[in-house]
Amino acid sequence: MLSERVIAMSQDSKRLLAILTAQPVVPVVAVANAAEGVALARALVAGGIGSIEGTMRTPAALEAIRAIVAEVPEMVCGAGTILTPKQFEQAEAAGAEFIVSPGATVEILDAARSSDVPLLPGSATPSEMMAMLQEGYEVLKFFPAEQVGGAAFLKSIAPVIPQLKFCPTGGISMKNVQDYLGLPNVLCVGGSWLAPKDKVAAGDWDAITALAHEAAGLKDAH
Ligand code: 3PG
Repeated sequence: MLSERVIAMSQDSKRLLAILTAQPVVPVVAVANAAEGVALARALVAGGIGSIEGTMRTPAALEAIRAIVAEVPEMVCGAGTILTPKQFEQAEAAGAEFIVSPGATVEILDAARSSDVPLLPGSATPSEMMAMLQEGYEVLKFFPAEQVGGAAFLKSIAPVIPQLKFCPTGGISMKNVQDYLGLPNVLCVGGSWLAPKDKVAAGDWDAITALAHEAAGLKDAH
């Protein structure tokens, strides 16, 4: 039973690996309505970014995910800030292609187990990381990255728990992104800097495409 579960989770890890290695930065976005989500997704795709984490931080999140999945097929749309099994189910029903949580509760792990949509669970300590590995998760979010120790923290995890690969998010920008992308255990980073609130609200899609282009051109060192 346990081995079946671990094998299933490993397939999820493989799918996450494919999604997260397709570009160096996954934008973390919060939008006011579906049309804004679609326009934002198109602007990011135009800049070379092919996956996005649409967070459940606004009432329009689910309808925006639904619209992006339907109208911007070039974009792999995940759902983020998933805190409860209900949100997990709602995001899955909306068509989210991956699910991101800032942490991992027993309830969220149960929801993931009965779903085909891969979960990227959050972790911030060695014990949490070991617990996730034991559950079969080899790909984790590291959150909130800068606040809990940043790239130096993740660097010291690499030789100790080498099976794990991370998508760090929280406090990352063009100023410090290379510190993370150079680490052997970092697949990509997440960040909201590709979709600044003022530019999204103003519909300044060209500016967002330019930010996406700059981020898509970042190279990792491994
Ligand atoms: C997340 O949900 O992953 C973070 O809130 C993103 O953090 P940032 O706004 O500092 O990029």
